[in-house]
Amino acid sequence: MEQKKILYVNSCVRKESRTDRLSKVLLNKLGAYEEERLTDIDIKPLNEERLNYRMSQQEKGNYKDKIFDLAKRFAEADVIVISAPYWDGQFPAILKIYLENIYAIGVVTAYGPDGGPQGLCKAKKLYYVSTAGGNFDPRFSYDYVSSLVKEMFGIPETELIYAENLDMEGNDPESILAEAMNKLR
Ligand SMILES: Cc1cc2nc3c(=O)[nH]c(=O)nc-3n(C[C@H](O)[C@H](O)[C@H](O)COP(=O)(O)O)c2cc1C
Repeated sequence: MEQKKILYVNSCVRKESRTDRLSKVLLNKLGAYEEERLTDIDIKPLNEERLNYRMSQQEKGNYKDKIFDLAKRFAEADVIVISAPYWDGQFPAILKIYLENIYAIGVVTAYGPDGGPQGLCKAKKLYYVSTAGGNFDPRFSYDYVSSLVKEMFGIPETELIYAENLDMEGNDPESILAEAMNKLR
């Protein structure tokens, strides 16, 4: 049987990240994976120059250009795990930069016959893993990513895994984390 391609999109910033630790429990269950550690790779927001360059390559149909490499890896994965600490009611900015870099028409999505989006991604499932210092509110984090990948990228199923209230006074973050990890095992 062909090995499933599992892509780990790691937007955790801290070396000792608890979100990364929680994600690793899930990944160990899923099997061998490739990691995209966003703070270690060379991605930048789309300024005018990069945007125009990408559009010119799209118009030529030159999807071999390295500007599409990240998007192609995302589109070709069978299972995707996004790991993102809960920051400012959302997630670290590097994840938004990643999303705008992979959102390439002709790679992760295309315009369907009715002019609406038609997802091109192979993955049937995307997991979103997070940890929060206080209450985790999914509205601008998981809900946003989930809508984006379902409606635009064609990934039919998403699942949220999280641990919350880790930084609340009187709470023991390690035992909250252990409980979330045990649920996954
Ligand atoms: C820049 C920054 C912003 C944060 N914003 C929030 C927030 O809006 N709400 C909240 O509950 N916790 C917030 N926190 C706390 C983190 O969600 C919490 O410590 C989380 O477990 C960090 O994940 P990590 O261990 O993977 O880095 C923030 C932490 C940082 C460093």
